Amino acid sequence: QKQKSTNVYWHEASIQKEDRQNLNEHRSGVLWFTGLSGSGKSTLATAVEKALHKRAVRTYVLDGDNVRHGLNGDLGFSPEDRTENIRRIGEVAKLFVDSGVLVLSAFISPYREDRKQVEDLLQADEWYEIYVKCSLDECEKRDPKGLYKKARSGEISRFTGVSAPYEEPENPQLTVETDRYFIEECVDQILDHLRSEAMI
Ligand code: PPS
Repeated sequence: QKQKSTNVYWHEASIQKEDRQNLNEHRSGVLWFTGLSGSGKSTLATAVEKALHKRAVRTYVLDGDNVRHGLNGDLGFSPEDRTENIRRIGEVAKLFVDSGVLVLSAFISPYREDRKQVEDLLQADEWYEIYVKCSLDECEKRDPKGLYKKARSGEISRFTGVSAPYEEPENPQLTVETDRYFIEECVDQILDHLRSEAMI
């Protein structure tokens, strides 16, 4: 991304991320859920958030459908727009992390390189890539919004998994298989992982 802003200066804040983390009594970071449409990203992010909230963890869910109503309402689903979508989300997530919050983001984020760009914005212990794995067959069966049907009929073009690519994570911190386990089991797997990482 070419920097177009000139004559801008970075201000050091007097209160730093570490101060906010100390106040919160937990680290901040990003749980990056990636997977096909209908794989269960939003459902999982919301369920994990509920469990974390109970444990007094400051959280915020960034969700594809919601962000595309506001901040990214000008973006479609071409490869370039998806890349810009994820770039902006990454910058937003970084701000949240700086504010001391644990972000749960639920975007298809189909391109490995785009996810890597977000990872590179963060420190190693702030980034948790969670692959929400679910076969295309099962996602298509669920079809909660009827989008696969529209994609198959050609009413929607460039639909992920049907007429646009999805690049599986090669080295996610965690893979949860929503076509093999109940949502509650996947939530437990994620909480166990966060515990083992001393995040909660
Ligand atoms: S991306 O690829 O990361 O930029 O996509 P994202 O911002 O997560 O938005 C995905 C949601 O947009 C709806 N939708 C589509 N998805 C994929 N391909 C196409 N062409 C498309 N058109 C609309 C769909 O509701 C996705 O939501 P989820 O929750 O993933 O099912």
